[in-house]
Amino acid sequence: MKLFLDTASLQEIKEAISWGIIDGVTTNPSLIKKAVIALREVDEQEDIESYIKKILATAGRMCPVSLEVAGLTADEMTEQGILLYEKFDQVAGNVVIKIPVCTINSKGEGGIFDGITAIKNLTEERIPVNSTLIFTPEQALIAAKAGAEYVSPFAGRIDDRIRRQAEMSFEKNDYFPATGIYDEDNNFLTDFGLVSGVDLVSQIAKIFQQYKMECEIIAASIRNPIQAREMAAVGAHISTVPFSVLKAMAQHPGTVDGIDAFTGDLVKEYLGLFSSGV
Ligand code: G3P
Repeated sequence: MKLFLDTASLQEIKEAISWGIIDGVTTNPSLIKKAVIALREVDEQEDIESYIKKILATAGRMCPVSLEVAGLTADEMTEQGILLYEKFDQVAGNVVIKIPVCTINSKGEGGIFDGITAIKNLTEERIPVNSTLIFTPEQALIAAKAGAEYVSPFAGRIDDRIRRQAEMSFEKNDYFPATGIYDEDNNFLTDFGLVSGVDLVSQIAKIFQQYKMECEIIAASIRNPIQAREMAAVGAHISTVPFSVLKAMAQHPGTVDGIDAFTGDLVKEYLGLFSSGV
């Protein structure tokens, strides 16, 4: 499974890329907002265009970077996707345009098939698309049919929706069992027939495999290392993880204990090997 970093922080991207385990980067308007707030604290002047160019150059040619459009109509999203691609892909040839699968908002603006139309339009222009805000396997299916190179199912937010339905209190990064949960009255909880975010990704993986669809699944909205592990086990091609989750993936208390024990057992005879040269 490939690992993408879910961030717009240049600092985080630089650091994670230096470890040699990052295959791509995903951003969204909320992550860009966070990065801009942090950027303004240290630099009043730097414009977002040069900041994004630094992200693309840091990620490099082999690491696709998703940049999201801002509009809700097919025409706006197509135009913005082309603009983003033309402005930024020349930096490192790694831009992917992120398009919401469906842009209807709570005010009823946007269009049911505007996302799908924009995916089709950009695909015809040979611009790679990552279709985002996927909450059901059927949304993933139609995004892939429209030509999306990637789909991004929001796993953690499915788990949030299931817990909220049962009015459960939880912390954002709490583990949610892949096999689902029951409420206090012993009712099994689902969201549109899905028992968890891992279930969402697992069902998309089965469908894509069954019909030999080339679209890659980016398991997104990943909240903890166990969820990333489960995504790998159910066949996500990629997990996009926040920096904090990436750091947590490298750690275990048993490793800490082992480090303590091994460093405590270093004898001078063995240490001598390292001071005598090759
Ligand atoms: O990649 C999607 C991601 O940024 C959303 O994550 O944690 O806000 O649900 P989250």
